[in-house]
Amino acid sequence: MKLVASVFVLALAFLSQALENGLMRTPPMGWLAWERFRCNIDCKKDPQNCISEKLFMEMANCLVTDGWKDLGYVYVNIDDCWMAKERDARGQLVPDPERFPSGIRALADYVHSLGLKLGIYGDLGTHTCSGYPGTTLDQIEQDAFTFAEWGVDMLKLDGCYSSAEYQAQGYPRMTKALNATGRQIAYSCSWPAYQGGLPPQVNYSLLTNICNLWRNYDDIQDSWDSILSIVDWFSKHQDVLQPAAGPGHWNDPDMLIIGNFGLSEEQSRSQMALWTVLAAPLFLSTDLRSISQSSQEILQNKLMIKINQDPLGIQGRRILQEKSHIEVFLRPLSHSASALVFFSRRTDMPYCYTTSLAQLNYTHNTIYEVQDVYSGDIISGLKTADNFTVVINPSGVVMWYLYPTMYLDRSFSFINHLYKSETKKFHPFPL
Ligand code: GLA
Repeated sequence: MKLVASVFVLALAFLSQALENGLMRTPPMGWLAWERFRCNIDCKKDPQNCISEKLFMEMANCLVTDGWKDLGYVYVNIDDCWMAKERDARGQLVPDPERFPSGIRALADYVHSLGLKLGIYGDLGTHTCSGYPGTTLDQIEQDAFTFAEWGVDMLKLDGCYSSAEYQAQGYPRMTKALNATGRQIAYSCSWPAYQGGLPPQVNYSLLTNICNLWRNYDDIQDSWDSILSIVDWFSKHQDVLQPAAGPGHWNDPDMLIIGNFGLSEEQSRSQMALWTVLAAPLFLSTDLRSISQSSQEILQNKLMIKINQDPLGIQGRRILQEKSHIEVFLRPLSHSASALVFFSRRTDMPYCYTTSLAQLNYTHNTIYEVQDVYSGDIISGLKTADNFTVVINPSGVVMWYLYPTMYLDRSFSFINHLYKSETKKFHPFPL
């Protein structure tokens, strides 16, 4: 009896270290200030764009009025530079009084009144990356409690001005502290980005237990080079990263920069397709008040979002790098559907890439219906062995959503299990 009791106590102790919030069963979607608005705190010179409650309220309004919220973009996330330079007399974090005169509680109330969620930023260390007050080990519980009291729904905990030892203690301790508030607060850990992103420093099985998402690698910048370096790093290390992702715990290659200044239209389509196939969080970081129609269309593509939000939550992989500088990415989806991204790293002209599903890891003898995610074109009756050609623009993608319509392979146990007849039509995502 004594033994049973102590096992129970041990189990409880373990459980309270784990993130029990049940959040983010699919990759989170929303808006995050950093890449586009940085640490612009000069509200005198630049009142429209400085980090202030006005900016977050305006972005929240746009999320609702321009259809973003209905598609799932529900987080409005504050990044660095929201704080006053000092904590208050009780040691509590406080927002800058001039830029956030109503306070974070009021901002959270406003965001909630629109049916959205509010995210906030902190840093496990002496200072944030931009020099605002950090959260030291002894302040973790107090700050978690403050965020909960304000009605915050997500915390990004950065790792500047910290040490490896500090982070090893602090990140799991914040999980515990957030759980202890009783409020469901999603937890984004920057921890692996400060550990070089890879084992043995990064313990991904621990991370999946204590964080909903984590930044693995460098900050995204407003440039195509930055996108390529992130995609390369994620692909190179996919054997480590890919298995770590799943419902409730995601690798985060950083924000979407579509709508800003650094990407062409082709490159914007590529970022969206690649982030989707990587099961990445979709955090817009652009000015929603003035975004172009074409960027909005890319970010609001319904089939794209359905693929990103697939309930199985399997992160895709780069399965091929051709000598022709074409790369192919594949993401398995629920109901035997899948997504393929044909990505051109060429810099000359549109390239005709010929292949077959049989050459792309599709082993079952099946007939597929294919929908081109950007053009909407449908190809019916594509057999696994059929050759096909896609035309991919330089630094662009062709993205396909595929689902089986007929199974020809009698030994395919999945279908024998699910369907009486091998010829039954199957449309998992009717559009
Ligand atoms: C780090 C993070 C960025 C951003 C800045 C803020 O560089 O990686 O995402 O939060 O700090 O200062």
